[in-house]
Amino acid sequence: MAWRMAWRKLSLIAAAAQNAAAQTDYSQFVNPFIGSEGPIAGYAYGGGDIFVGGAVPYGVVKLGIDTWEDRVNIATLNGGYTPKGTVTGVSMMHESGTGGCAKYGVISQMPLASVASPVNILNDTTYWRKRVGTDEATVGYFHTDLEDGIGISLAGARHAGIMKYDFPAGGEQHVLVDVSHFLPDPPGGFCQQYYVDGSISISDDGKNYTGHGTYAGGFNLGAPYTLYFCGEFDTAPVEAKAFTGVNTTRIVTGSPPEPTFGGKSAEAGSEGFRVGALFSFRATPSSKASVLSSKVGISFISKEKACMFKDTEIPSWDQQETIKAAQDEWNKDIFSTIQVDTGPEANRTLLTLLYSSLYFMHLMPSDRSGENPLWESDEPSWDDFYCIWDTFRNTFSLSHLIQPHAYESQIRGLIDIWRHQGYMPDGRSGNDNGLTQGGSNADNVLADAYVKGLRGDIDWQDGYAAMAKDAEVSTNGSNKEGRGALDDWLTYGYLTTNSERSISRTVEYSANDFALSQVAKGEKPEDVEKYLKRSAGWQLLWNPDVPSVNTTPVFKGFLTPKSANGTFESVGYNPATCDVCSWPSITYEGTPFEYSFVIPHDVETLIGLMGGSDSFESRLDYIFLPNTSQTNLGANGVGITSIMNIGNEPDFATPYLYNYINKQWKSVNQSRALGNQYFRNAPFGVPGNSDSGALNSWLIWQMLGMYPVVTQPVYLLGSPWFSDINMTVNGNTLRITANGLGTDSYFVQSVKINGESWDKNWFEHDSPGQRLMVDGGTIEFELGSEPVEWEKGDVPPSPGRVGLNGTGGYRV
Ligand SMILES: *[C@@H]1O[C@H](CO)[C@@H](O)[C@H](O)[C@H]1NC(C)=O
Ligand SMILES: *[C@@H]1O[C@H](CO)[C@@H](O)[C@H](O)[C@H]1NC(C)=O
Ligand SMILES: *[C@@H]1O[C@H](CO)[C@@H](O)[C@H](O)[C@H]1NC(C)=O
Ligand SMILES: *[C@@H]1O[C@H](CO)[C@@H](O)[C@H](O)[C@H]1NC(C)=O
Ligand SMILES: *[C@@H]1O[C@H](CO)[C@@H](O)[C@H](O)[C@H]1NC(C)=O
Ligand SMILES: *[C@@H]1O[C@H](CO)[C@@H](O)[C@H](O)[C@H]1NC(C)=O
Ligand SMILES: *[C@@H]1O[C@H](CO)[C@@H](O)[C@H](O)[C@H]1NC(C)=O
Ligand SMILES: *[C@@H]1O[C@H](CO)[C@@H](O)[C@H](O)[C@H]1NC(C)=O
Ligand SMILES: *[C@@H]1O[C@H](CO)[C@@H](O)[C@H](O)[C@H]1NC(C)=O
Ligand SMILES: *[C@@H]1O[C@H](CO)[C@@H](O)[C@H](O)[C@H]1NC(C)=O
Repeated sequence: MAWRMAWRKLSLIAAAAQNAAAQTDYSQFVNPFIGSEGPIAGYAYGGGDIFVGGAVPYGVVKLGIDTWEDRVNIATLNGGYTPKGTVTGVSMMHESGTGGCAKYGVISQMPLASVASPVNILNDTTYWRKRVGTDEATVGYFHTDLEDGIGISLAGARHAGIMKYDFPAGGEQHVLVDVSHFLPDPPGGFCQQYYVDGSISISDDGKNYTGHGTYAGGFNLGAPYTLYFCGEFDTAPVEAKAFTGVNTTRIVTGSPPEPTFGGKSAEAGSEGFRVGALFSFRATPSSKASVLSSKVGISFISKEKACMFKDTEIPSWDQQETIKAAQDEWNKDIFSTIQVDTGPEANRTLLTLLYSSLYFMHLMPSDRSGENPLWESDEPSWDDFYCIWDTFRNTFSLSHLIQPHAYESQIRGLIDIWRHQGYMPDGRSGNDNGLTQGGSNADNVLADAYVKGLRGDIDWQDGYAAMAKDAEVSTNGSNKEGRGALDDWLTYGYLTTNSERSISRTVEYSANDFALSQVAKGEKPEDVEKYLKRSAGWQLLWNPDVPSVNTTPVFKGFLTPKSANGTFESVGYNPATCDVCSWPSITYEGTPFEYSFVIPHDVETLIGLMGGSDSFESRLDYIFLPNTSQTNLGANGVGITSIMNIGNEPDFATPYLYNYINKQWKSVNQSRALGNQYFRNAPFGVPGNSDSGALNSWLIWQMLGMYPVVTQPVYLLGSPWFSDINMTVNGNTLRITANGLGTDSYFVQSVKINGESWDKNWFEHDSPGQRLMVDGGTIEFELGSEPVEWEKGDVPPSPGRVGLNGTGGYRV
């Protein structure tokens, strides 16, 4: 990628800006292509599925190209961008880092050098174009060149974008606006998007156009949502005409339709026609090259608002101004929250990994405040939680520290969705909930905020009621929201083999109910016992007699499928496999072997069930060994051969579990090795889908030298990757220093917190006399090249330690 080139160019601009604003330009270190490729060079397949284009933090608009890549897989086209895919359009809305069926890719333009046959503007395969040369991207900016010589430059603001098209000499100049366009997806999938309705109307001079499009489906099987748009060109076209066409929105199906041109406006009408407009700036070949610019605003409320966004957010036709504004916003609001030395001595690779990770963490969710068409509310509105199953584990908890306003606003938005639509989402996009992959994990998000003392403007009575809805009201098997297998959970205390994902959802519902118990402490004390007891449900699936299969040594005791009559289904059971490890399997994106480690609220009981500290340690050691995986995850596996799979979220906290047996050096050794091996400054730089930045936030915590235990006010200590970090916490500064840090010198020798020596490998968010994550303070690491068992204090807590009969203690 031409990222380096752009970096140099923009550093000059940045240097000038720095003098003016005294703001370090961290954006120069961002490589927006990290995650754009998978293990097969040149293909997105198996990669991060990231968005590449122009966007501001949490922006509604993510302006980028939509592409079609050969050897297509349903997880490949979601971010719009692929390394070599043909360009089918430039569109305003994208997700970033997501798998499953594509969502968005709507409100588009496509620059064309010819519209003569074989081009048929109702069939994007007839005009899609390959790219030539290398793409360029920086924060806020993207550029690509099409094979027919047209250059596309894009910059994004919050609800608007500005496109610049360089038309070469020799061709015609047209821009197609296809209201029925959305991200291409292979035909035949069960969750494809579709176009529902649309309209367009062109001003008399042809420079302006407005309209609406309505779309549905996609990953979350979402209900129809409507977007209004307002476009403008800097040049008057010689001709501008609206068109309709029959509804064949899918690629390569049906008989070739032809557009019907119909003056200055068009609508779908009762026939459900596709609509669009063709703007021709040169209808005949010209010997002169020329540049055309266009601005487009979008709104979920009205055309007028879309125009207002376009005019106020992008007042100038100079694209550089929009790029600069976006970079300033990223520097000020996001990058400067974690400051490390950026001087000439600093390691550029590490700077790139840190600031790129912060960038990808903040593309999602989208701040739709003021843009909620579904209900009137004074609460903030957020969309594109995709999915909280991914982001509850360490993304929200980092936002708590470095984005306190957005974080509180997101929680209020989640509760408001329950208030008006009945359930908080686990996944949500296009203003509709869906899908749940496991538990109702917004419960964990709320509990994590609550136990860390966040009250703010959150209505916690409602917050708890929203959680209780998840825990008590059945969704009758639906995966849209809530808990799909709640009936099993309430009847048996575990999910029986009659339910899909019985093991992974039992593990997640246990954690969800632990989350309820923690909020109940303050909001409804009489519920605490009930939910604490339910949080031990995972123990009902623990079969102490089940052995591992094909491992040396053999480990005994695993989560095991259990039927409704209470019988374990152990015959032929291999906990290291889970068939396709997806919706219909016993576990989702991870094997029972992995899920058997995922009990963060009660690690103490878990260690007991595994036979004590020594066997817990040797089982942990085993899962990190190469070639121990017995399941083929295909592209999802991205070449990982250990049972431990850092590419999928269930295992995120597993490398840190050695802290629970006071062998913190092993947590450091394993987690650092994973960070170094799988996270790189390269297009194939994250191990699989970045999952809305979940993988990126894992790396940030790793670099900070700590890891959050979500739903507890607890952070485990790791080992930092920088010798001096000033991090914003709650508006104050936490300074993390690492004396003795070197390439081979990263084992903790000793730790001081706020100047006093510290003998535990964890600390609390806010404990009496030490309010580290509220008031800030210092953590001083002394690092060396030799492992040391330096921690002599208590192991991290297991506040969910409870027997199945609710009295404490566990059965062994
Ligand atoms: C087109 O939009 C611009 C910017 O909002 C406005 O100044 C202009 O009057 C509009 N032109 C027409 C013909 O509506
Ligand atoms: C679209 O065009 C392609 C050729 O590029 C053709 O194979 C296909 O049948 C067309 N599809 C429709 C619906 O016309
Ligand atoms: C267009 O066709 C799709 C199926 O291909 C259908 O779901 C959708 O409702 C149709 N849209 C209209 C406006 O008729
Ligand atoms: C962190 O803050 C301290 C105190 O203001 C300052 O001396 C130090 O240089 C800062 N370090 C970095 C990396 O910004
Ligand atoms: C910079 O960090 C990377 C990643 O840890 C490492 O591979 C490289 O050797 C470092 N470069 C220098 C000059 O220390
Ligand atoms: C589940 O089914 C019950 C009984 O038919 C019904 O009352 C309830 O509304 C359903 N819940 C949902 C979320 O569909
Ligand atoms: C329990 O149910 C399973 C499957 O549902 C069945 O195979 C088994 O025979 C049953 N066991 C008893 C004791 O009823
Ligand atoms: C893992 O298996 C592969 C393929 O069989 C082999 O090439 C490699 O050497 C093995 N690695 C280890 C560490 O055993
Ligand atoms: C440290 O981690 C690496 C990578 O997992 C592993 O090969 C090595 O054996 C570990 N060292 C120790 C002493 O456990
Ligand atoms: C609950 O379980 C604990 C631990 O197994 C046991 O000691 C206790 O007697 C049990 N209490 C009841 C009421 O069954």
